Amino acid sequence: MSAIPTPSAPAPDVLRCAYMELLVTDLAASREFYVDILGLVVTEEDDEAIYLRSFEEFIHHNLVLRKAETAGVAAFSFRVRSQADVDKAEAYYRELGCETRRGDFTRGVRNAVRVVDPLGFPYEFFYETDHVERLAWAYEQQGPGALVRLDHFNQVYPDVERGASYLEALGFKRTEDIKDAEGTTYAAWFCRKHTVHDTALTGGNGPRMHHVAFSTHEKHNILYICDKLGALRKSDLIERGPGRHGVSNAFYLYLRDPDGHRVEIYTQDYYTGDPDNPVVTWDVHDNQRRDWWGHAVVPSWYTEASLVMDLDGNPQPVIEREESSEMEVTIGADGFSYTRKDDTDEGFKLGHQV
Ligand SMILES: [Fe+2]
Repeated sequence: MSAIPTPSAPAPDVLRCAYMELLVTDLAASREFYVDILGLVVTEEDDEAIYLRSFEEFIHHNLVLRKAETAGVAAFSFRVRSQADVDKAEAYYRELGCETRRGDFTRGVRNAVRVVDPLGFPYEFFYETDHVERLAWAYEQQGPGALVRLDHFNQVYPDVERGASYLEALGFKRTEDIKDAEGTTYAAWFCRKHTVHDTALTGGNGPRMHHVAFSTHEKHNILYICDKLGALRKSDLIERGPGRHGVSNAFYLYLRDPDGHRVEIYTQDYYTGDPDNPVVTWDVHDNQRRDWWGHAVVPSWYTEASLVMDLDGNPQPVIEREESSEMEVTIGADGFSYTRKDDTDEGFKLGHQV
C-alpha cells in the first residue's frame, strides 16, 4: 500500500480518546450488558440510543449504543483542546482528500467533525460538550467492579507501519510495538494522554474495530466482574483472561457484548508522558508479550473483530492483510507459543527498550 502523505496543514491537538459510538442490533440486550452487568452510568437514553459514561467522567458520554440493522462502529471519537482544533482537524483531513462532515452527531456533543480517515476508519474530533456530574466520589453508586474511565480503542488494520506513520503524523506517540527480526510489525500502541495508549493498531484484515477498553481502579475490581459473570451464569461472555499483559503491563479481561463487540476491562498500566519515553519493542515469538504469565491467546481474539462504518452507516470494505499474521507465526498445534529464542541469543531481548 502507498504511503500516506503528511498534510502541510497543522494537526489538531488531540487530548484523548473520548467515546465510541457502537451500532447494536438489540438495544435492550446491549443495555443489560453495559448497564445491568458492567454498571456504566446512563447519562440519557431513548428508544434509539443510550448514552453511557464511566464514574470519573465529566463529559456527556464515553459510549453511545445506537440501534441499527447492522452491528458496527459509527465513530472512534477524540476530544481536542479547543474548537479551533476541530477546524484544524477538518482542514487536515480535507487536505488528505478524506470525506468530512461537520455537525452534531450525538446528544451532548456539538459542532464536531467526522471523517473517514486514510485507513478507512470513522474518526470524530470534538471540543464542545455538555458537562455532567463526575461521580468519582459516589461510592454508594459504584459497585465493586466500577468502570472509572474510558482508556483506549484498538483498531485492526492490514499494514501496521502504514497506519503508524499516519497516526504519528497526527501527533500520536508510539509507546510499544511487536515485531519480528525481519522487521515486520504485528501491532503498535499510540498515546496522546499519558498512558500506554489512546488507540492501538493490531495487524489483521481491516479496517475493523478490535476492542474498546474501560479502566477499573484495581485488579480486584476485574476479578469481581469475573465472579459476577459466573454467578449470573454468563461466563460465556468472557473471551480471554483475566490476566496480566506483557505489552502495557496492565491487568486485563476481554468480554464480548451481545453483538460480538469486544470490550476490554483494563487497569494499572504506566506513565508515558515524557517526550523521550522509551518505546518498548516485543519479539513476536515472545510468548509473554500478550500474556505475561504465558497463557495462550484464544484464536478468536486474533481473527474476530467488528465492522466499521462510513459516514452514512454502511460497512467499510475489509482489506486482507498480506504479511503473515501474529497468530500464524506464534501459535503451535497445542495453542501455545513457546517460539521465542533464549534471551542469550542474538536478536530481541525481553521487552527490549529503544
Ligand atoms: Fe486493549
